[in-house]
Amino acid sequence: MDKQPLAETAVDRIETVFGEHRTYRRAHARGVIYEAEFTANGLAAEYTAAPHFQAGKVKALARFSHSSPDPTWTDVMSPVKGLGVQFQLPGGDITNIVGVNSPIFFAKTPEAFTEILGIVTSFKDGKPRLRELAKLLIRYPESRAAFKILKKMHAPASFATGRYHSIHAFYFIGRDGKRTPIKYEWEPDAGMETLSPKSAGSLPFGYYEWEIEDRLQKGPVSFTLNIVLGEEGDPTDDPTVAWPEERQKVAIGKLEIGRPAPEAELEKFDPTVMTDGIECSEDRILHFRHPVYTVSHERRKKEN
Ligand code: HEM
Repeated sequence: MDKQPLAETAVDRIETVFGEHRTYRRAHARGVIYEAEFTANGLAAEYTAAPHFQAGKVKALARFSHSSPDPTWTDVMSPVKGLGVQFQLPGGDITNIVGVNSPIFFAKTPEAFTEILGIVTSFKDGKPRLRELAKLLIRYPESRAAFKILKKMHAPASFATGRYHSIHAFYFIGRDGKRTPIKYEWEPDAGMETLSPKSAGSLPFGYYEWEIEDRLQKGPVSFTLNIVLGEEGDPTDDPTVAWPEERQKVAIGKLEIGRPAPEAELEKFDPTVMTDGIECSEDRILHFRHPVYTVSHERRKKEN
């Protein structure tokens, strides 16, 4: 099966498992979008010629989201939250970084992702049913690490206190042609803070969207962009495996959240949209996200 039909199948399966929620993104359905500004400090210039990572400012969009494809799930049913950032480059081009508050993903290949949605067919309170989960972990042992993290995970206390990982590796290409494997992390300047299970239980629906707006009324909300430098042997093609904790990180800039931009909700944050000086790694899940996000975007655009 080539890429495009498998992408249609993947989105169909998401709709079968989570319901068809017309007009919404087929994953990360509920979210809130802001204008933003990214200021690069110039430290990335050693590794990449990418225009937005040379010292200076570019405009951006930032969308915070709850990961569930079902927009009626409560805030705490999806402890995985997302941050999609679209950088608006000089000359009208764009490039994106799309992250979540987990360092790894549960599927290594597009085929595994699609088959997993044939094994895990329903959720209770945001969790897969034990029998289905057990079957999946036997068939796809590489999924264990991500489900272990998910099991222990507490949702961030706010969209502003999550650390968002690109999960996939990318290559920075320097002016001298040198290729450096990197991953991205958005580090919250407010510090990382998670919800206690007790307070999580009492959160009203839509709390995160309300809370970030309230926080912005009181002061700035910002994130530092770190690049994690990959070393020899660090896998660049496998989103189910984290790089060692001790890898060197370089802070290359800061994203400041601005005013709400609900008019941009139809935008697509495709993590494969690159610019000069950055290339996608060999990770097949990363490449699969391009046709999948296109299918989802086409469906919701028609419905809106
Ligand atoms: C096979 C793997 C994956 C599939 C099938 C998938 C599916 C989707 C779909 C259908 C959307 C909605 C796209 C749109 O309508 O614009 C989406 C959005 C999103 N996905 Fe994925 N995804 C995958 C992997 C990942 C991974 C590894 C991450 C972690 C970095 C991730 C993070 C996100 C985020 C944060 C959004 C929301 C972006 C926004 O706010 O527009 N996804 N995904």
